[in-house]
Formats: sequence, C-alpha cells, structure tokens
Amino acid sequence: MDERLVANLKRMAAERAVDLVQNGMILGLGHGSTAKYAVDIIGERVKSGVLQRIVGVPTSEHTAAQARALGIPLATLAEHPVLDLAIDGADEVDPDLNLIKGLGGALLREKIVESAAQRFVVVVDESKLVRRLGTRGPLPVEVTQFAWEAHAGWLKSLGCRAELRRAADGVPFVTDNNNYIIHCAFPEGISDPVALARALIQRPGILEHGLFLGMATEVVVAGADGVRVISA
Ligand code: A5P
Repeated sequence: MDERLVANLKRMAAERAVDLVQNGMILGLGHGSTAKYAVDIIGERVKSGVLQRIVGVPTSEHTAAQARALGIPLATLAEHPVLDLAIDGADEVDPDLNLIKGLGGALLREKIVESAAQRFVVVVDESKLVRRLGTRGPLPVEVTQFAWEAHAGWLKSLGCRAELRRAADGVPFVTDNNNYIIHCAFPEGISDPVALARALIQRPGILEHGLFLGMATEVVVAGADGVRVISA
C-alpha cells in the first residue's frame, strides 16, 4: 500500500479513538507510528482547550518526550494506578481481537500501562488484520541482557526462528528498561497463543512478550472503505 495512504489511515483511526477522550480522563499514551498520531491529536485538543484536565501516562520515553513537547500533563501509574482509557497501535490483530504488539520496542511498558486501563482502544490500518497471529511478522519477546543467548536458544526450541533485535548500526537494540528484544518468527504463525503466552512468561529471564490476549476492548480499523470500530 502507498505510504501516504497508510499514514492517512493511521491518522483516521487515531482521530476516531481520540473522539472517545473526555475531559478529566487519565489516559494511557501508546508508542509507535499510529499511536503518535493519537498523541498529536490529543495535544492539539489540549492546546485548543477542547480537552481539559487530561493526564497522560506514557508507555515509552519517546512518547513521554512527545507528550511533554505538546503540553500534555504527564503522571505515573504510582499516582494513577487505574486509567480511564489507553490508546495504542498494534502489529497484528486477530478475529478475537488478540494482538501482537511490540515491534516498536515498547511492549513491556505498554502491557503494564494498558492492563491498568479500564478501556483499551487499539488503532490500526486494515493491513494489521490477520486470521492467525504471527503470520505478518515476528513475535517480540523482551529478555534480560544477561544470558540472552540462552533465552534465544530456548525460544528456538519452541519452533521459531529467534533473532536478537539490532539497531541499524548492528548493535543490540536496548529497551527503555535496559533489556534486549528477541524476535521470534513462527513459520506457520502461532497456533495456540494462550499456551505460548503461558510458556513464555514462566521462563526466568523472559520479562514480557508481545502477545496481548483478551486486553483490547475495542479496535478502530481504518481502511479503504472508511473507519469501523470492532468491540470485544
Ligand atoms: C510499540 O512497541 C508497538 O507495540 C506498536 O504499538 C506497534 O508496533 C504498532 O506500531 P505502528 O503503529 O508503528 O505500526
């Protein structure tokens, strides 16, 4: 799909999600190119006074910097352990609204923040819709730097191709939490996401994975035919 068209779809989805934001809400602010539009739009509405008394809890240092620059007041989960609404993108969305997230590298904080939200609204263009998770891209898994090679070896034993995420210059990508990310590519996709999620989280040294199961309350999908909202 044409890049400008995709960017336009992302913005349309973000705009629809931000329409759900009301004055006084505590918001989870996502990370990634689609969530960036949502944060921009929230910033515009805060600046113009359309939205008042908004507080954002960012899911990454990058998003925190963006929100600060836009004048969106920020807080932490320590101050607001329960959020009214979180808005974020996703890498894949299956028919049950289960997600793969984290190819932007912020999955651990995203999962912490978004699981604290009463409503978690996902914003995607229609290219993210899949029949089976893991068929569009790899599953990101955040691991300790310590013994990462052993984690990668264990992940391979689950039937995936496991590769350390690296930055453009070849050095390992380091998350906001000072960890590494291993990308796990399953040749046929993920046949049982619940079982995989359970296995992953039991392994010492695996801190979080990109399977966001049963978390999204709504998915806003922008496509050639317009914007639709799918509810869980
Ligand atoms: C960030 O870590 C991710 O979970 C993003 O939400 C996800 O990668 C979607 O990003 P885009 O909106 O840039 O596709």
